[in-house]
Amino acid sequence: MQHITLIRPDDWHLHLRDGDALSTTVPHTARQFARAIVMPNLTPPVTTVEAALAYRQRILAAVPADLNFEPLTSLYLTPATTRDEVARAAECPHVHAFKLYPAGATTHSEAGVGDLKGIYPVLEAMEHLRVPLLVHGEVTDPGTDIFDRERLFIERELAPMAERFPGLRLVLEHVTTREGIDFVRSRPQLAGTLTAHHLLYNRNALLAGGVRPHYFCLPVLKRETHRQALLEAATSGNPQFFLGTDSAPHAQSRKETACGCAGCYTAHAAMELYAEAFDSVGRLHRLESFASLNGPRFYGLEPNRGTVTLTRQAWTAPETYPLGSESLVPLRAGESIAWKLA
Ligand code: NCD
Ligand code: ZN
Repeated sequence: MQHITLIRPDDWHLHLRDGDALSTTVPHTARQFARAIVMPNLTPPVTTVEAALAYRQRILAAVPADLNFEPLTSLYLTPATTRDEVARAAECPHVHAFKLYPAGATTHSEAGVGDLKGIYPVLEAMEHLRVPLLVHGEVTDPGTDIFDRERLFIERELAPMAERFPGLRLVLEHVTTREGIDFVRSRPQLAGTLTAHHLLYNRNALLAGGVRPHYFCLPVLKRETHRQALLEAATSGNPQFFLGTDSAPHAQSRKETACGCAGCYTAHAAMELYAEAFDSVGRLHRLESFASLNGPRFYGLEPNRGTVTLTRQAWTAPETYPLGSESLVPLRAGESIAWKLA
Protein backbone atom coordinates (compact mmCIF):
# COMPACT_ATOMS: atom_id res chain seq x y z
CA MET A 1 0.00 0.00 0.00
CA GLN A 2 1.48 3.38 -1.05
CA HIS A 3 -1.37 5.64 0.10
CA ILE A 4 -3.98 5.37 2.79
CA THR A 5 -6.96 7.69 3.20
CA LEU A 6 -8.76 7.88 6.53
CA ILE A 7 -11.61 9.81 8.11
CA ARG A 8 -9.92 12.78 9.80
CA PRO A 9 -8.47 11.48 13.09
CA ASP A 10 -8.51 12.81 16.68
CA ASP A 11 -5.94 12.73 19.47
CA TRP A 12 -7.51 11.59 22.75
CA HIS A 13 -4.52 12.49 24.98
CA LEU A 14 -2.47 15.62 24.32
CA HIS A 15 -0.34 18.18 26.18
CA LEU A 16 -0.38 21.60 24.49
CA ARG A 17 1.03 23.63 27.43
CA ASP A 18 0.18 27.33 27.57
CA GLY A 19 1.43 30.82 26.70
CA ASP A 20 3.95 31.12 23.87
CA ALA A 21 4.32 27.31 23.57
CA LEU A 22 0.87 27.27 21.96
CA SER A 23 2.16 28.87 18.77
CA THR A 24 4.19 25.70 18.10
CA THR A 25 2.06 22.97 19.65
CA VAL A 26 -1.38 23.99 18.40
CA PRO A 27 -0.49 24.25 14.68
CA HIS A 28 1.32 20.89 14.79
CA THR A 29 -1.70 19.12 16.24
CA ALA A 30 -4.27 21.04 14.18
CA ARG A 31 -2.48 19.92 11.00
CA GLN A 32 -2.86 16.29 12.05
CA PHE A 33 -6.09 16.09 14.04
CA ALA A 34 -9.57 17.61 14.03
CA ARG A 35 -9.97 17.39 17.81
CA ALA A 36 -7.89 16.55 20.85
CA ILE A 37 -8.49 15.95 24.52
CA VAL A 38 -6.20 18.54 26.06
CA MET A 39 -4.61 17.56 29.34
CA PRO A 40 -5.07 19.93 32.30
CA ASN A 41 -1.62 19.61 33.95
CA LEU A 42 -0.68 23.27 33.63
CA THR A 43 0.78 25.29 36.49
CA PRO A 44 -1.59 25.99 38.16
CA PRO A 45 -3.68 23.02 37.02
CA VAL A 46 -7.01 23.44 35.20
CA THR A 47 -9.41 22.40 37.96
CA THR A 48 -12.63 24.23 37.12
CA VAL A 49 -14.96 24.58 34.16
CA GLU A 50 -14.28 28.31 34.20
CA ALA A 51 -10.50 27.78 33.91
CA ALA A 52 -11.00 25.18 31.17
CA LEU A 53 -13.12 27.57 29.10
CA ALA A 54 -10.48 30.29 29.38
CA TYR A 55 -7.74 27.80 28.39
CA ARG A 56 -9.86 26.69 25.45
CA GLN A 57 -10.01 30.29 24.19
CA ARG A 58 -6.21 30.63 24.42
CA ILE A 59 -5.83 27.44 22.38
CA LEU A 60 -8.38 28.55 19.78
CA ALA A 61 -6.50 31.85 19.39
CA ALA A 62 -3.42 29.84 18.32
CA VAL A 63 -5.20 27.78 15.62
CA PRO A 64 -3.95 28.83 12.14
CA ALA A 65 -6.65 30.51 10.05
CA ASP A 66 -6.66 27.79 7.38
CA LEU A 67 -7.23 24.89 9.82
CA ASN A 68 -10.20 23.66 11.83
CA PHE A 69 -9.37 22.34 15.24
CA GLU A 70 -11.57 21.79 18.28
CA PRO A 71 -9.89 21.51 21.69
CA LEU A 72 -11.82 19.19 24.02
CA THR A 73 -10.89 20.15 27.55
CA SER A 74 -10.47 18.02 30.65
CA LEU A 75 -10.37 18.97 34.32
CA TYR A 76 -7.64 18.08 36.79
CA LEU A 77 -8.99 16.03 39.66
CA THR A 78 -7.68 17.07 43.08
CA PRO A 79 -8.65 16.04 46.61
CA ALA A 80 -10.67 19.29 46.68
CA THR A 81 -12.77 18.59 43.55
CA THR A 82 -16.46 18.79 44.44
CA ARG A 83 -19.50 16.92 43.19
CA ASP A 84 -20.84 20.32 42.08
CA GLU A 85 -17.84 20.79 39.78
CA VAL A 86 -18.57 17.36 38.29
CA ALA A 87 -22.14 18.47 37.64
CA ARG A 88 -20.93 21.69 36.01
CA ALA A 89 -18.50 19.69 33.84
CA ALA A 90 -21.27 17.29 32.81
CA GLU A 91 -23.36 20.22 31.60
CA CYS A 92 -20.57 22.02 29.74
CA PRO A 93 -20.27 21.00 26.06
CA HIS A 94 -16.56 21.88 25.99
CA VAL A 95 -15.46 19.76 28.98
CA HIS A 96 -15.26 16.06 28.23
CA ALA A 97 -13.54 14.35 31.16
CA PHE A 98 -11.68 14.52 34.44
CA LYS A 99 -8.02 13.49 34.59
CA LEU A 100 -6.72 11.60 37.60
CA TYR A 101 -3.04 11.99 38.37
CA PRO A 102 -1.86 10.05 41.40
CA ALA A 103 0.09 12.73 43.33
CA GLY A 104 3.75 12.58 42.34
CA ALA A 105 3.30 10.18 39.40
CA THR A 106 4.48 12.45 36.58
CA THR A 107 5.04 16.00 35.28
CA HIS A 108 2.92 18.54 37.21
CA SER A 109 1.10 15.90 39.22
CA GLU A 110 1.82 17.42 42.65
CA ALA A 111 -1.76 18.69 42.90
CA GLY A 112 -3.10 15.21 42.17
CA VAL A 113 -4.73 12.67 44.43
CA GLY A 114 -2.84 10.82 47.18
CA ASP A 115 -5.63 8.76 48.73
CA LEU A 116 -7.87 7.43 45.96
CA LYS A 117 -10.53 6.21 48.39
CA GLY A 118 -10.94 9.84 49.46
CA ILE A 119 -12.29 10.80 46.02
CA TYR A 120 -14.83 7.97 45.82
CA PRO A 121 -17.80 10.36 46.45
CA VAL A 122 -16.68 12.40 43.43
CA LEU A 123 -16.26 9.23 41.33
CA GLU A 124 -19.80 8.29 42.27
CA ALA A 125 -21.00 11.58 40.76
CA MET A 126 -18.96 10.90 37.61
CA GLU A 127 -20.44 7.45 37.30
CA HIS A 128 -23.95 8.82 37.76
CA LEU A 129 -23.46 11.70 35.28
CA ARG A 130 -21.48 9.53 32.84
CA VAL A 131 -18.43 11.81 32.84
CA PRO A 132 -15.31 9.87 31.74
CA LEU A 133 -12.40 9.51 34.14
CA LEU A 134 -8.99 9.45 32.45
CA VAL A 135 -6.40 7.73 34.59
CA HIS A 136 -2.63 8.03 34.74
CA GLY A 137 -2.16 4.50 36.03
CA GLU A 138 1.00 4.30 38.09
CA VAL A 139 1.66 3.79 41.80
CA THR A 140 3.86 6.52 43.22
CA ASP A 141 5.61 4.78 46.11
CA PRO A 142 9.27 5.64 45.37
CA GLY A 143 10.41 2.23 46.57
CA THR A 144 8.53 0.49 43.74
CA ASP A 145 10.46 -0.56 40.67
CA ILE A 146 9.61 1.97 37.96
CA PHE A 147 8.87 -0.81 35.44
CA ASP A 148 6.22 -2.33 37.78
CA ARG A 149 4.29 0.84 38.56
CA GLU A 150 1.50 0.40 36.01
CA ARG A 151 0.88 -3.26 36.80
CA LEU A 152 0.73 -2.56 40.55
CA PHE A 153 -1.59 0.42 40.11
CA ILE A 154 -4.01 -1.79 38.20
CA GLU A 155 -3.93 -4.47 40.90
CA ARG A 156 -4.10 -2.16 43.91
CA GLU A 157 -6.19 0.79 42.75
CA LEU A 158 -7.83 0.43 39.37
CA ALA A 159 -9.33 -3.04 39.71
CA PRO A 160 -11.05 -2.16 43.02
CA MET A 161 -12.23 1.15 41.54
CA ALA A 162 -13.73 -0.51 38.46
CA GLU A 163 -15.38 -3.10 40.72
CA ARG A 164 -16.87 -0.44 43.01
CA PHE A 165 -18.09 1.77 40.09
CA PRO A 166 -19.13 -0.61 37.32
CA GLY A 167 -20.81 2.19 35.36
CA LEU A 168 -17.84 4.58 35.52
CA ARG A 169 -16.41 5.23 32.06
CA LEU A 170 -12.70 4.77 32.67
CA VAL A 171 -9.82 5.29 30.28
CA LEU A 172 -6.47 3.82 31.21
CA GLU A 173 -4.31 6.43 29.52
CA HIS A 174 -1.12 5.56 27.65
CA VAL A 175 -1.24 1.82 28.37
CA THR A 176 2.32 0.47 28.43
CA THR A 177 2.02 -3.14 29.66
CA ARG A 178 0.45 -6.44 28.71
CA GLU A 179 -1.33 -6.35 32.08
CA GLY A 180 -2.86 -2.99 31.17
CA ILE A 181 -4.12 -4.37 27.85
CA ASP A 182 -5.60 -7.45 29.55
CA PHE A 183 -7.28 -5.29 32.18
CA VAL A 184 -8.97 -3.05 29.59
CA ARG A 185 -10.11 -6.08 27.60
CA SER A 186 -11.58 -7.69 30.72
CA ARG A 187 -14.29 -5.03 31.27
CA PRO A 188 -16.49 -3.47 28.60
CA GLN A 189 -16.80 -0.08 30.35
CA LEU A 190 -13.05 0.48 30.03
CA ALA A 191 -10.99 1.94 27.23
CA GLY A 192 -7.28 2.47 26.71
CA THR A 193 -5.26 5.00 24.75
CA LEU A 194 -1.97 4.03 23.11
CA THR A 195 0.88 6.34 22.16
CA ALA A 196 2.89 6.08 18.95
CA HIS A 197 6.17 5.90 20.85
CA HIS A 198 5.05 2.97 23.02
CA LEU A 199 3.95 1.14 19.84
CA LEU A 200 7.31 1.77 18.15
CA TYR A 201 9.91 1.51 20.92
CA ASN A 202 10.85 -0.66 23.85
CA ARG A 203 13.02 0.30 26.81
CA ASN A 204 16.26 -0.35 24.90
CA ALA A 205 15.62 2.97 23.12
CA LEU A 206 16.35 4.76 26.41
CA LEU A 207 19.86 3.37 26.61
CA ALA A 208 20.96 2.78 23.02
CA GLY A 209 24.70 3.46 23.22
CA GLY A 210 24.12 6.08 25.92
CA VAL A 211 21.33 7.86 27.79
CA ARG A 212 18.64 9.07 25.40
CA PRO A 213 16.54 11.66 27.22
CA HIS A 214 14.14 12.24 24.34
CA TYR A 215 12.81 8.69 24.77
CA PHE A 216 12.08 9.23 28.45
CA CYS A 217 8.40 9.57 29.26
CA LEU A 218 6.05 8.32 31.94
CA PRO A 219 4.92 5.62 32.10
CA VAL A 220 8.42 4.64 31.00
CA LEU A 221 8.96 2.46 27.90
CA LYS A 222 8.73 -1.23 28.78
CA ARG A 223 10.29 -4.42 27.45
CA GLU A 224 9.62 -5.83 23.97
CA THR A 225 6.97 -8.36 25.04
CA HIS A 226 4.84 -5.45 26.31
CA ARG A 227 5.34 -3.42 23.13
CA GLN A 228 4.10 -6.40 21.14
CA ALA A 229 0.99 -6.68 23.32
CA LEU A 230 0.25 -2.98 22.77
CA LEU A 231 0.72 -3.25 19.01
CA GLU A 232 -1.50 -6.33 18.88
CA ALA A 233 -4.26 -4.47 20.80
CA ALA A 234 -4.00 -1.28 18.71
CA THR A 235 -4.25 -3.19 15.44
CA SER A 236 -6.77 -5.82 16.60
CA GLY A 237 -9.89 -3.84 15.69
CA ASN A 238 -11.07 -3.94 19.34
CA PRO A 239 -12.99 -0.64 19.76
CA GLN A 240 -11.80 -0.26 23.38
CA PHE A 241 -8.39 0.94 22.14
CA PHE A 242 -7.83 4.29 20.46
CA LEU A 243 -5.23 6.90 19.63
CA GLY A 244 -3.75 9.18 22.30
CA THR A 245 -0.32 10.58 21.47
CA ASP A 246 0.58 11.87 24.95
CA SER A 247 2.73 14.30 22.98
CA ALA A 248 4.37 16.21 25.83
CA PRO A 249 6.70 19.08 24.91
CA HIS A 250 9.53 20.13 27.21
CA ALA A 251 12.28 22.63 26.41
CA GLN A 252 15.52 20.99 25.22
CA SER A 253 17.31 22.45 28.26
CA ARG A 254 14.87 20.63 30.59
CA LYS A 255 15.34 17.29 28.79
CA GLU A 256 19.11 17.30 28.21
CA THR A 257 20.18 17.77 31.80
CA ALA A 258 21.15 15.80 34.92
CA CYS A 259 17.48 15.27 35.88
CA GLY A 260 15.52 15.47 32.65
CA CYS A 261 11.74 15.89 32.44
CA ALA A 262 9.45 13.07 31.32
CA GLY A 263 7.67 13.46 28.01
CA CYS A 264 8.15 12.67 24.30
CA TYR A 265 7.07 15.17 21.65
CA THR A 266 5.33 13.47 18.72
CA ALA A 267 2.71 15.99 17.55
CA HIS A 268 4.85 17.07 14.57
CA ALA A 269 4.55 13.59 13.00
CA ALA A 270 1.88 11.79 14.97
CA MET A 271 -0.09 10.09 12.21
CA GLU A 272 3.09 9.25 10.30
CA LEU A 273 4.50 7.48 13.37
CA TYR A 274 1.28 5.52 13.95
CA ALA A 275 1.28 4.58 10.24
CA GLU A 276 4.79 3.15 10.66
CA ALA A 277 3.64 1.09 13.64
CA PHE A 278 0.54 -0.30 11.91
CA ASP A 279 2.50 -0.93 8.69
CA SER A 280 5.13 -2.91 10.64
CA VAL A 281 2.53 -5.63 11.25
CA GLY A 282 0.74 -5.30 7.89
CA ARG A 283 -2.38 -3.79 9.48
CA LEU A 284 -2.69 -0.32 7.97
CA HIS A 285 -6.31 -1.17 7.20
CA ARG A 286 -6.99 -1.04 10.97
CA LEU A 287 -5.57 2.48 11.42
CA GLU A 288 -8.85 4.26 10.64
CA SER A 289 -10.89 2.60 13.38
CA PHE A 290 -8.09 3.19 15.91
CA ALA A 291 -7.45 6.83 14.93
CA SER A 292 -10.85 8.07 13.77
CA LEU A 293 -13.75 5.90 14.97
CA ASN A 294 -13.17 4.21 18.34
CA GLY A 295 -12.46 7.41 20.27
CA PRO A 296 -15.59 9.31 19.16
CA ARG A 297 -17.64 6.23 19.92
CA PHE A 298 -16.34 6.09 23.50
CA TYR A 299 -16.83 9.83 24.05
CA GLY A 300 -20.30 9.85 22.47
CA LEU A 301 -19.27 12.15 19.62
CA GLU A 302 -19.70 11.89 15.86
CA PRO A 303 -16.69 10.95 13.74
CA ASN A 304 -15.18 13.91 11.88
CA ARG A 305 -16.13 14.96 8.38
CA GLY A 306 -13.42 14.96 5.74
CA THR A 307 -10.40 12.75 5.25
CA VAL A 308 -6.61 12.80 5.43
CA THR A 309 -4.17 10.91 3.22
CA LEU A 310 -0.86 9.37 4.25
CA THR A 311 1.71 8.52 1.58
CA ARG A 312 4.66 6.19 1.84
CA GLN A 313 7.30 8.87 1.30
CA ALA A 314 10.33 9.26 3.54
CA TRP A 315 11.17 12.67 5.01
CA THR A 316 13.52 13.88 7.71
CA ALA A 317 12.16 15.38 10.91
CA PRO A 318 13.73 18.71 11.94
CA GLU A 319 16.40 18.71 14.67
CA THR A 320 14.38 21.21 16.71
CA TYR A 321 11.31 23.39 16.72
CA PRO A 322 10.94 26.65 18.63
CA LEU A 323 9.14 26.41 21.99
CA GLY A 324 8.58 29.99 23.08
CA SER A 325 12.08 31.43 23.58
CA GLU A 326 13.57 27.91 23.88
CA SER A 327 13.79 24.94 21.57
CA LEU A 328 12.12 21.58 21.52
CA VAL A 329 13.61 18.31 20.24
CA PRO A 330 10.90 16.19 18.60
CA LEU A 331 10.92 12.41 18.48
CA ARG A 332 13.03 11.19 15.49
CA ALA A 333 14.83 14.56 15.31
CA GLY A 334 17.10 14.55 12.25
CA GLU A 335 15.97 11.03 11.36
CA SER A 336 13.83 9.58 8.63
CA ILE A 337 10.07 8.99 8.95
CA ALA A 338 8.62 6.57 6.41
CA TRP A 339 5.14 8.08 5.90
CA LYS A 340 4.03 11.60 5.13
CA LEU A 341 0.72 13.30 5.76
CA ALA A 342 -0.47 15.15 2.67
C1 NCD B 1 3.52 14.29 30.57
C2 NCD B 1 3.84 15.78 30.61
O1 NCD B 1 5.00 16.13 30.35
O2 NCD B 1 2.95 16.59 30.86
N1 NCD B 1 4.74 13.54 30.57
C3 NCD B 1 4.90 12.26 30.16
O3 NCD B 1 6.00 11.72 30.32
N2 NCD B 1 3.95 11.60 29.58
C4 NCD B 1 2.63 13.94 31.72
C5 NCD B 1 1.99 12.58 31.60
O4 NCD B 1 1.11 12.38 30.76
O5 NCD B 1 2.38 11.68 32.34
ZN1 ZN C 1 0.02 12.73 29.25
